[in-house]
Amino acid sequence: MERRTFVKSLAAGLAGLPLLPRLTAAANEQLQTLGTDLGALSDAPARWRRVRNEFNYTPDLIHLNCGTIGATPRPIVEALCNLLHELESSPYHHTFEGTGLYGQIEGVRDKAAAFLGVTKDEVALTTNTTEGMNGVATGLKLQPGDEILTTNHEHGGGMVGWQYLAKHRGLKIVQFKIPPPAQSKEQILQLIADHLTPRTRVCFFSHVETITGMVMPLAEISALVRPKGILLVCDGAQAPGMIDVDLKALGVDTYASSSHKWMLAPKGSGLLYIRKEAQERVQPVTLHSGYSAYSGSVGTRGWPQLIAHGLTMDFHNTIGRSQVQARCRELNNYLRQRLDRLPHLRCLTPTLPELSSPGIVTYALDKGKNGEIVTQLHDEHNIWVKPAAGTFTIEGGLPHEDYNALRFSTHIYNDEAQLDRTVEVLEKLLKAL
Ligand SMILES: Cc1ncc(COP(=O)(O)O)c(C=O)c1O
Repeated sequence: MERRTFVKSLAAGLAGLPLLPRLTAAANEQLQTLGTDLGALSDAPARWRRVRNEFNYTPDLIHLNCGTIGATPRPIVEALCNLLHELESSPYHHTFEGTGLYGQIEGVRDKAAAFLGVTKDEVALTTNTTEGMNGVATGLKLQPGDEILTTNHEHGGGMVGWQYLAKHRGLKIVQFKIPPPAQSKEQILQLIADHLTPRTRVCFFSHVETITGMVMPLAEISALVRPKGILLVCDGAQAPGMIDVDLKALGVDTYASSSHKWMLAPKGSGLLYIRKEAQERVQPVTLHSGYSAYSGSVGTRGWPQLIAHGLTMDFHNTIGRSQVQARCRELNNYLRQRLDRLPHLRCLTPTLPELSSPGIVTYALDKGKNGEIVTQLHDEHNIWVKPAAGTFTIEGGLPHEDYNALRFSTHIYNDEAQLDRTVEVLEKLLKAL
């Protein structure tokens, strides 16, 4: 939903809800004001300055590691605190009765379904990508010798379930090597086609991979593998909140994500999507009693956290999901243009826009050690970037490659001045080596 429609429906919704508006009134009001202010500002830099005002972090911090953890906007943090106080004023009532917080949690699944472009009966609220991926992997009916095809650029959180199945159930993990940087969608599709065998049951890929930020061409992969009856299982940790995701258009069968990264939700918030037609084949034990936020198979959880998770989706809708994506890209391009000019750095992220994610860019160093540079950046300059160590290794799989790289994530709370400062500091550090 885009900004204006959202602000109207927010106002209409507030009138009808007895409990939640009271507890989240301040957050809703702040989001409404944000929406009104953004609507009134025609100048893009002024609009983004207005958005940046919504964050709490210390003024001199330059946080370029949203790919690991995002910063939650102030209205959401405050709402979370209010909700926690309310919960503890009457714990049983709020945890188990419809007139308490419990009555609000299914609404978060409605918001999540709209955010991902899917239906509510396909979405579950989780803690993170790792939990979602573990549920998918162990919820499949696979036989010893069945193959799962993946890459050497996956994250451990997406891989651990497959490693568990390989160790305990005889599943075979087949990896292919992602070329850093990949040159075209066709190159990736060819690599996949070359590694499919009659035993391939699952293709498992990150939507946006964690090392270089490359975007996997999921729609094209789906067109290749679905007719063969192969499930397309995705790790979406790095996408929702950065990319305006439409899972139906991507054609994936399952998608697990971490909302505490790009969606900027409170830490420990995630989503799991399982396509209706794939639900018979993928049966996580936590969803045995259904996809509701509370069920006998998922047990008791912290509703304040889940409600605040929903509010962060409202935050993105207030700004506009496509505007957020465009701003991540604008900042990333700005940074790339400057880092491309520095000696000793080689970009590992594809240059083609359809293969490069809006918010992540990674550079390999041909001098110095990434870990030491990262430490100097944060200890001495309060600049936080991620050391991108290298490829993921499995027993009997492809050899480890150490990229000795730095990963930069740009989000709406960053600005051009922060990026100038980062480049200036990095240039000096590299010169001094
Ligand atoms: C691609 C990918 N998958 C999974 C994870 C694990 O995320 P979480 O710890 O939120 O489960 C990460 C974290 O950086 C990631 O980049």
